[in-house]
Amino acid sequence: MARTALVTGGTRGIGKAICIALKEAGYTVAANYAGNDTAAEAFSKETGIAAYKWSVADYEACVAGIGRVELAHGPVDILVNNAGITRDAPFHKMTPQQWRDVIETNLSGVFNMTHPVWNGMRERGFGRIITISSINGQKGQFAQANYSAAKAGDIGFTKALAQEGARKGITVNAICPGYIATDMVMAVPEKVREQIIETIPVGRLGEPEEIARCVAFLASDQAGFITGATLTANGGQYLV
Ligand code: CAA
Repeated sequence: MARTALVTGGTRGIGKAICIALKEAGYTVAANYAGNDTAAEAFSKETGIAAYKWSVADYEACVAGIGRVELAHGPVDILVNNAGITRDAPFHKMTPQQWRDVIETNLSGVFNMTHPVWNGMRERGFGRIITISSINGQKGQFAQANYSAAKAGDIGFTKALAQEGARKGITVNAICPGYIATDMVMAVPEKVREQIIETIPVGRLGEPEEIARCVAFLASDQAGFITGATLTANGGQYLV
């Protein structure tokens, strides 16, 4: 029977590309999303992949949502923590709410989603936890104290949990995309975005599919010896 993959923030942008790549690789795929019903309906119509609505920032909602997914598609073997938001502001303007929103979605959301699937993966002796961090968690970014902190936290989470999963057949890895052509990056003022592109050696934004291929590789049996790793895909913008 095909393994089941659950992708958070899976109906748009990088998450949508991940869902499609995993489906093409033969997995049963379910997508989670938090807000945009219209995009989710269009996604399901286009891909045939079911979309489930809840906020990853809410632990109880994650437990209930994962329960619904598992009832429909079987136990989650592969969890892709992709959901993320930005609330960019220079620190002197950043509000406590902007800080909390980003930490609760981008960092606590990873706990909230991983914790309910962890014991099942341990019992079955197989699992893949793949978390989409960011170049800005590696290098820091002006106006992103909240986002950079959360994304750096995702890398620490990955390294710690990899050690716990290793003997149970569970790999835990992070991917750090650079600037990818998604709504999130397109929301950056055009002039600023042009300046950013000038700092990318390959001379362009990345494509969502370029991140999706990284996920498909880390999800596969061939990647079983890779755990606790941070896979950087940023067009050479930041070398770690
Ligand atoms: N380094 C140093 N100074 C910078 C800077 C930088 N990278 N970016 C802006 N500044 C400076 C400006 O020059 C300006 O200085 P002056 O006031 O002296 O002229 C000042 O900061 C801007 O101040 P404002 O009060 O105008 O700032 P603002 O409140 O309007 O905020 C901004 C503007 C939010 C910083 C906007 O420029 C922006 O969105 N920048 C991009 C941030 C970014 O890269 N976010 C990543 C989003 S994509 C993503 O997160 C996905 C991923 O994982 C890669």
